[in-house]
Amino acid sequence: MNALENKTVAIIGAGSVGASTAYAVMIRGSARNVRLYDIDAARVEAEVLDLAHGSQFTGAGEVSGSDDLREIEGADVVVITAGAKQHPGQTRLDLAATNVRILRSLMPQLLKRAPNAIYLLVTNPCDVLTTAAQQISGLPAQRVFSTGTVLDTARLRWLLAQQAHVSRQSVHAQIIGEHGDTEFPLWSSASIGATPLVDWEVEGKRIFTPDRLNSIADQVRNAAYHVIKGKGATNYAIGLSAARIIEAILHNEQAVLPVSTVLRGFRGIDGVALSVPSVVSHRGAEPVLTTSLSEAETELLQRSASGLHEVQESLGL
Ligand code: LAC
Repeated sequence: MNALENKTVAIIGAGSVGASTAYAVMIRGSARNVRLYDIDAARVEAEVLDLAHGSQFTGAGEVSGSDDLREIEGADVVVITAGAKQHPGQTRLDLAATNVRILRSLMPQLLKRAPNAIYLLVTNPCDVLTTAAQQISGLPAQRVFSTGTVLDTARLRWLLAQQAHVSRQSVHAQIIGEHGDTEFPLWSSASIGATPLVDWEVEGKRIFTPDRLNSIADQVRNAAYHVIKGKGATNYAIGLSAARIIEAILHNEQAVLPVSTVLRGFRGIDGVALSVPSVVSHRGAEPVLTTSLSEAETELLQRSASGLHEVQESLGL
């Protein structure tokens, strides 16, 4: 039996994000067993049935779920998607007070049943909730982290690849910082293959001018608002991003991904969770302290940190 065979991911919350995460995990084979929990018994039973009915077409093993938290006993990864979601016109930070309150009651119950799990926060504002979850649980920072800007980085790569006429996998560019309005691209280290991004040419012309890069950064920052305006929520891309991170954990990939962990001494930042490239493995997420940032990018990251410190102080974190 390979190491993955008996791995289990538990997803807290069977709303559109939780269900999409379960679906993505099954399709990608990120974990063998998927467990869903939600306070709404009818909802979680229906989602589990709908997923289980299709499970023969995936690599998934057992798909189960209920409104009983015993469902998550012994899970290897616990993904938290439960909480209030953004409505049109709301920022992610607007959800902070409500979702920290939910986490304060939920976290101790989860720990009781899955004390050795890696905890992955998806619920927004995921950076603030990562700090809250780490404080409430007392777990080491590397075992409580969030999807952070993995999704924003995927959006950035999709846009750059489209305009550069290359594969998304050949675009090496990251969004870092807050998963929110102060996020920003690490342009200083962005490249396509071995070509610095700004030197990439299409039909003999360098296309990534400062104006175009600013426009691309704005499109990424505003992507979720655009989708939420049209369909009321985002779910597929965040579900796939979470599945990708779960794979890196359960396959012990040591993949470098921009997940959000509570930083300690990263460019003078302490006590807030922000996304920087981090090594993700079965130990959890460890920020890469040698990540190269320009002076301007360091200032932007420190500005993100001060904004989150203010929110956290207002919530007693
Ligand atoms: C988004 C949500 C997950 O960016 O915050 O789509």
